[in-house]
Amino acid sequence: MPSFNFNTFVLVALLSLSSVLALPSPGAPKPVAIPLSRRGQHLHTHDDVPEVADLEGIQAHLALLGDKYDQTLAAFQRNTGKAHPLSLLRTILAPLNGINAPLAAPIAQTIAKPLLTALHTRADKEGALELTDSRNKMWYGSIDVGTPPVRFTVDIDTGSSDLFIPSAECETCGGHKPYNLSESETGRSLNQTYNLRFGDMSTTGVQLMEDTVSIAGIAAKSQTFGAALNYSSTFKKGVTDGLLGLGFPSIAVSNTAPLMDNLISQGAIREGVFGMYLAKEGSEAMFGGVNKDKFVGDLQWTPVTQPGFWQVNITGLGSDSSASAVTGQFSAIVDSGTTLFIGDKESVKNLYASIDGAQDASHTAGPGFYTVPCDNVPTVSVKFENTGSFEINPKVLNLGPIKKGSKDCVGGIIALPFGFWVVGDVFMRNVYTAFDVDHSRVGFAKLT
Ligand SMILES: *[C@@H]1O[C@H](CO)[C@@H](O)[C@H](O)[C@H]1NC(C)=O
Ligand SMILES: *[C@@H]1O[C@H](CO)[C@@H](O)[C@H](O)[C@H]1NC(C)=O
Ligand SMILES: *[C@@H]1O[C@H](CO)[C@@H](O)[C@H](O)[C@H]1NC(C)=O
Ligand SMILES: *[C@@H]1O[C@H](CO)[C@@H](O)[C@H](O)[C@H]1NC(C)=O
Repeated sequence: MPSFNFNTFVLVALLSLSSVLALPSPGAPKPVAIPLSRRGQHLHTHDDVPEVADLEGIQAHLALLGDKYDQTLAAFQRNTGKAHPLSLLRTILAPLNGINAPLAAPIAQTIAKPLLTALHTRADKEGALELTDSRNKMWYGSIDVGTPPVRFTVDIDTGSSDLFIPSAECETCGGHKPYNLSESETGRSLNQTYNLRFGDMSTTGVQLMEDTVSIAGIAAKSQTFGAALNYSSTFKKGVTDGLLGLGFPSIAVSNTAPLMDNLISQGAIREGVFGMYLAKEGSEAMFGGVNKDKFVGDLQWTPVTQPGFWQVNITGLGSDSSASAVTGQFSAIVDSGTTLFIGDKESVKNLYASIDGAQDASHTAGPGFYTVPCDNVPTVSVKFENTGSFEINPKVLNLGPIKKGSKDCVGGIIALPFGFWVVGDVFMRNVYTAFDVDHSRVGFAKLT
């Protein structure tokens, strides 16, 4: 593998894209699955609505999220030489907020600032509030790196495309498992570093390494990943050692082929597909196929409109009283690293307007939030281009009472001026989701 030069973005982007075109190998092994776990209270289980909504945790998560999108959108522009269509919407929005944010400016300048300000205001009143990782709720699983293999826990994130774990040289990575190059027979350094910015505004140096990375026994050889030299407190305190991005190569900050692409190009998996099942028990990510035991009926496919994120179009939302409360064509990304379901202001307003007793909670819960009556949480349905409707279980939509004992519960569908919609955990927990790299499409199916 050639040594990458980060300035030759276009060349590397072409190399990365060519790996996507590889044909599935008929002799490749059967799909494999890794169990997934979830952390965080505001991702409560289906039959376990919390006593009170964890608003600070949710807002801290949203602040981190905006930064992730800014980084990945900027990576797309560097990697492909053109601005990501979604980033244009973000820059149009920024001046509307009275802020002059350049492309890929830190999220502090767009979405997170009001949120962080709100958090800090609250923290000043109630004592220190840390944006610790325990508040950044994600699904995680295990991968093995090196020879002999060392096991790392990683967040499973379909909204980014880089893999990183702590380096043995990291002195601020807490008790996390270190990757020690000199202990792996198959590892080598690419002698390059790049910077990864975290949502808490810290930046870490990441050293590019190449080694065997495997998931449940299937291996990608010479997989490029980042060995972090420095962790922010967010990552230091986190449950997981690192993060595995499962998006397309064009949004990889390191501008190298993501794990999924190498598994495909090396014929390690039969089909360029992975599936996610996010549930109370038995959650898993399957690679090389989908787990038909986890869903009923057929997967309904919607095309990826722009490879990068898992970007699709939503065509409508419905509630109990109005099957077509919102209709149109809305760019959305399917992101396992996001807890909520995020839409635009107008659409989300129209959705809640169709729900009896729903109230604008932007001054109580946070900008873009709404409440619904706790004793009458609606079933919201979502339609994508070419699919039927998929329902969100009221127990999943319900994030909990806005205050302890309140009759108003915070809804898991919120409005934020991201410029695109985000289909996160609040939706993904109701369906089986298939991410098909080979055919550039996302499939949803009803759960068994
Ligand atoms: C990495 O492994 C080498 C060889 O086993 C060892 O000498 C070194 O101390 C290790 N580095 C760290 C930071 O643990
Ligand atoms: C990285 O640097 C080391 C030491 O200078 C050298 O031995 C090695 O060949 C370099 N690796 C690559 C991939 O350039
Ligand atoms: C780690 O980050 C801290 C704070 O940003 C910085 O002072 C330090 O120099 C960094 N260390 C390394 C090894 O990058
Ligand atoms: C998807 O939605 C966007 C935003 O409304 C629209 O511009 C685009 O044409 C839609 N794509 C398809 C394939 O319908």
